Amino acid sequence: MNIIIALAYLLSSILFILGLKNLGSPKTARRGNQLAMTAMLIAIIVTLTKNEILDFTLIIIGLIIGSAIGAIIARKVQMTAVPQMVALFNGLGGGASALVALAEYNRFSGDLRIDVIISMVVSLFIGTVTFTGSLVAFGKLQGLIRSAPVVFKAQRFLNILLFTLFLIMGIIVIINPANSTGLLIILAIALILGILFVMPIGGADMPVVISTLNSCSGLAAAATGFVLSNNILIICGALVGASGFILTRIMCKAMNRSLVNIIFGPVGTVSVNNNNNDKRKVINYTEEDASIMLEAAKKVIIVPGYGLAVAQAQFALQELVTMLINKGIHVRYAIHPVAGRMPGHMNVLLAEANVSYDLLFDLNGINGEFKNTDVALIVGANDVINPSARTNKESPLYGMPILNADQAKTVVICKRSLSPGFSGVDNELFYQENTLMIFGDAKESINKMIQLLKT
Ligand code: TAP
Repeated sequence: MNIIIALAYLLSSILFILGLKNLGSPKTARRGNQLAMTAMLIAIIVTLTKNEILDFTLIIIGLIIGSAIGAIIARKVQMTAVPQMVALFNGLGGGASALVALAEYNRFSGDLRIDVIISMVVSLFIGTVTFTGSLVAFGKLQGLIRSAPVVFKAQRFLNILLFTLFLIMGIIVIINPANSTGLLIILAIALILGILFVMPIGGADMPVVISTLNSCSGLAAAATGFVLSNNILIICGALVGASGFILTRIMCKAMNRSLVNIIFGPVGTVSVNNNNNDKRKVINYTEEDASIMLEAAKKVIIVPGYGLAVAQAQFALQELVTMLINKGIHVRYAIHPVAGRMPGHMNVLLAEANVSYDLLFDLNGINGEFKNTDVALIVGANDVINPSARTNKESPLYGMPILNADQAKTVVICKRSLSPGFSGVDNELFYQENTLMIFGDAKESINKMIQLLKT
């Protein structure tokens, strides 16, 4: 029996790896998901058939409740809310690992081998930090907590103090596993540290936070795998931990940030320069003005952002692009790596509207082209085109590579108001002389342009 279980776990691990590989490209992502789902199903069935389970009642109740909640969320959740759902799932994964570690501690009443108690401490700490950190990330993405950094005096000192306290308590518990109070103190420290870790991080840096928390949830699961001596959990956790780490590196590179800088970066020097809106004039242009500019253009670059997802304007936008191409205008999409609220968000949206991959260009591939472009059409993007990222050292966006939309001859921006993007930073581009602000829902504005171009 053991050999069958080991082989099934091996098959499951291989399918997980193949699933991850396929998730690397939008073309094969669906297959990647199917492979990973099959791997998970095998892992669950094999684990349930192990002889260690004496009573299935609680497991069945858990399966029914969990599956029902999962199915309802998957059906109901809006595309725009997927990032916060991912944040929540990361948190629940971390929380589950921490709870399993506590349950195992309780089962053995503190009589534990050194490797097991070390794994328990690691799982409890990382899992709990991931849990509360992810809840804060969820709150920021859902708009329940303001996305701008929340900072206070001595924050960094408190973090270092709490982390040092954790290290001391960890050593005490490892030396004397029967010290259950020590374990509870570690739990309390981790609960607070998770909140303190994410609160001071601004909206623009959230992609890095989410991928880091994702990686942490994997590490916590792997540590729990050591607690339970369960190979598939160790492998699965390591895969999530490693892939989350790779994604974190990609996100750091995309934002020109180091992870250390984001976590321990300057706290308390946030300048969100939003107070001088009233002094500057913005001319309210119409869709008619925009369509005249588009029709007269030879080269157009479209910059989609989070507002495209909110407005669900991808189909209308693609219709507009097709019309322009049919009129002999050279049109391309510029995709910023952190546009939207999750990695690949814009690619997924545009794939839904059957946009050809040949029209999509990443930041490095297109940034040099803006200066030769007649119209940069911005649809619901804001932070990813904010020039303060280049010039304002006080801005939370400073250093993040942006799309050079401001260098186009004319910039047409479709959004509902002058409100800032997710980072909370005002955008100079709205007030630039060559900018046409078209206020309104992106889908409605694009549809109006389509009608105007038809006549
Ligand atoms: P944002 O800077 O968030 O700006 C989106 C803009 O869309 C808003 O200013 C909003 O302005 C507009 N908008 C919202 N609903 C709209 C609608 N129905 N019609 C037209 N416009 C609408 O978006 P971005 O430029 O894509 O930048 C993404 C930001 O999110 C970055 O700061 C990034 O770091 C952060 N982030 C990214 C990720 C990933 S991995 N992509 C994850 C977490 C956070 P109005 O309200 O005035 O309409």
